[in-house]
Amino acid sequence: MKSSKIIEKIRSMSLEEKIGQLNQIQLEDTEQIREEIRKGRVGSIILADTATAGNDEQKRIDMNLLNELQQIAVEESTAGIPLIFGRDVIHGHHTVLPIPLAEAASFHTELIEKAYRAVAKEAASDGVHWTFSPMIDISRDPRWGRCIEGFGEDPYLTSEMGKAAIRGFQGEDYKNTESIAACAKHYLGYGAVEGGRDYGKTEISDYTLRNYYLRPFQAAVEADVATVMNSFSEISGQPVASSRYLLHDVLKEELGFNGFIISDWASIAKLVSHRVAKDEKEAAMLAAGAELDMDMVDRCYIEHLGELAAEGKVSEETIDKMVYRVIYIKERFGLFEHPYAERKQINYEEHLSFAKQCADESMVLLKNNGVLPIGQSEKIAVAGPFLYEKRSHLGSWAPDYDAGMLKSIQEAFLDCADKDRFIFPQLPYLWDDILLTLREVNTVVLALGESARVSGENNCLTNIDFPAEQLALIKKIKAMGKKLVGVMCFGRPIALGEAEPYFDAILYAWQSGSCAAQSIADIVCGNVNPSGKLPMTFPRTTGQIPLYYNYPSFFGNGMAYYGEGDNYWDCKSTPMYPFGYGLSYTKFEYSEVGCENNTLTLEELQNGEKFRVSVIVTNTGKYTGKETAQCYISDLVSSMTRPVKELKGFSKIFFNQGECREITFELGFEELGFYNGSGKFCVEPGEFDVFIGGDCTTDNKVKIAVVDEK
Ligand code: BGC
Repeated sequence: MKSSKIIEKIRSMSLEEKIGQLNQIQLEDTEQIREEIRKGRVGSIILADTATAGNDEQKRIDMNLLNELQQIAVEESTAGIPLIFGRDVIHGHHTVLPIPLAEAASFHTELIEKAYRAVAKEAASDGVHWTFSPMIDISRDPRWGRCIEGFGEDPYLTSEMGKAAIRGFQGEDYKNTESIAACAKHYLGYGAVEGGRDYGKTEISDYTLRNYYLRPFQAAVEADVATVMNSFSEISGQPVASSRYLLHDVLKEELGFNGFIISDWASIAKLVSHRVAKDEKEAAMLAAGAELDMDMVDRCYIEHLGELAAEGKVSEETIDKMVYRVIYIKERFGLFEHPYAERKQINYEEHLSFAKQCADESMVLLKNNGVLPIGQSEKIAVAGPFLYEKRSHLGSWAPDYDAGMLKSIQEAFLDCADKDRFIFPQLPYLWDDILLTLREVNTVVLALGESARVSGENNCLTNIDFPAEQLALIKKIKAMGKKLVGVMCFGRPIALGEAEPYFDAILYAWQSGSCAAQSIADIVCGNVNPSGKLPMTFPRTTGQIPLYYNYPSFFGNGMAYYGEGDNYWDCKSTPMYPFGYGLSYTKFEYSEVGCENNTLTLEELQNGEKFRVSVIVTNTGKYTGKETAQCYISDLVSSMTRPVKELKGFSKIFFNQGECREITFELGFEELGFYNGSGKFCVEPGEFDVFIGGDCTTDNKVKIAVVDEK
């Protein structure tokens, strides 16, 4: 139901004021901007100084300036519509959470929601109304620097994480001054850029789009996300910014999205670089024709839409529809009631405890030959290029971080009660100088990693193999006969094929935010039991990319890309570490999968009945710990090729020592269905294997069947 108040408001506005609502500009403290706001030519301001704000230092937010500009919009412009201030509050504000890819490794949606709620409070207290997060692009290519901003390779996990972030940002009551509007980005298919080159082209069939890339956006719309941002890329010849099919027909009509679409940075003007528009006027015409609602920073709309409307090339009715969506979101998020920013009381201690829990639960133990946790009285050397590093733990997109919250790994070990048993040989150094120091210990914990500069927007790599200079270091230390623990502070998955044999244990710590160092020390010392699981496949070597678990079945190989096939002469085909994989200090055993009701008719499924599949999981090890049980399906025969396995449920549960718990997953029409060759969502009768286990390679399964009685 449309709001008659908003319709009335739009009726009272001039065409220039309407187009103003569709115009987002960059913040500047100038008279010219004040004048533009006064004339109603600005609907939103982005608080970003540069086009790649995730990589560059940004000015801190000046709340007084925001309030002054807001006052001009509300009190001095004729329409009196408040501005909406947007900033990239991606995975934290003053308190920084792990990078989203690491958050996904937590498989803990309640925690992520709580943590994003805290982030929303911090951002709202600085005057931010709207964030350009979460990024829910599926990515199967770790060379692509932006894979760290999303939740990995799987549509279901990405959907669940995306919904949690949206719920956290927007809260239950959108008008609450601690809630901010979220933005699902980058619609659509951006993660599939060829060769992992940012902004590049993508080639995606409608079948793949709907079954993989669209699913998280569908989930975001179901979670009532306020805004959606388009991808810079083209899909099979059509830039998304000018695709009426994707923006209007699929997103708005088919999925029922009722918020507004914001263009990515100057991506309307970029239609000229794509050479589908001869100039910015034509670009504005194409984007408005696709009903892309708000124009980020390139001024194509404000400069050209008036003229285009006068020439009949864009109808005023279309403009009204776009303006309606913008005002609707401003209204829903309470901007008319409370346009001005007010500082809030923030409980930073509580927020840091959320960031710490997220870091604890995100880190993934990839290998452990019994060296971790380190012995309680053993003398340990902690060294490596990341020993003193702080900023890189935050990853890309941390413009507002509070440096006072950050610790280095060395500082975190020095905070331990038994700190005297740690020695910190300094590297790099003359190698001979540390030999004597290392002689005192049997175990060396090496803090390794990559800087925050090599990932994020437009920061891609051709080679994700373990860095050569760090490999040289581990070889030297291993040659001394030491036990080696690798703490790996990388944003993206790294190909560990060559380096892995040198390590006795590997803790993949990612870039885990404000509390990364404390979580590393706690896990290494055994105060925290690691529980992260991989949200993206780790290849052995760069050349295996793309390597992902949910690949369609093909001849000769039950596990598709993951199988022991003979795809390559020079490398094993299997991944180094599969999707969903992660060790714990304790051990979990799974019973056989059981199913209460192995057969359902199609009609029963359509009426909401579900299969209930369960396992009993037992903690048989020596520690308390958390396990993420994962449920996968495999559609055995279907009209189109289907993935060998697809994640359809997960459940992260805490276990006491010796404790056993029954875990049940429900599989209904939604879980068993897919978009067929005609783009129709359907369940095809037949058999499915249902797997439950600790990662995607599990073969613990039960068969179920959907029968068609008609
Ligand atoms: C990025 C977006 C970001 C926007 C605003 C663009 O370059 O692709 O993810 O939200 O800038 O800073």
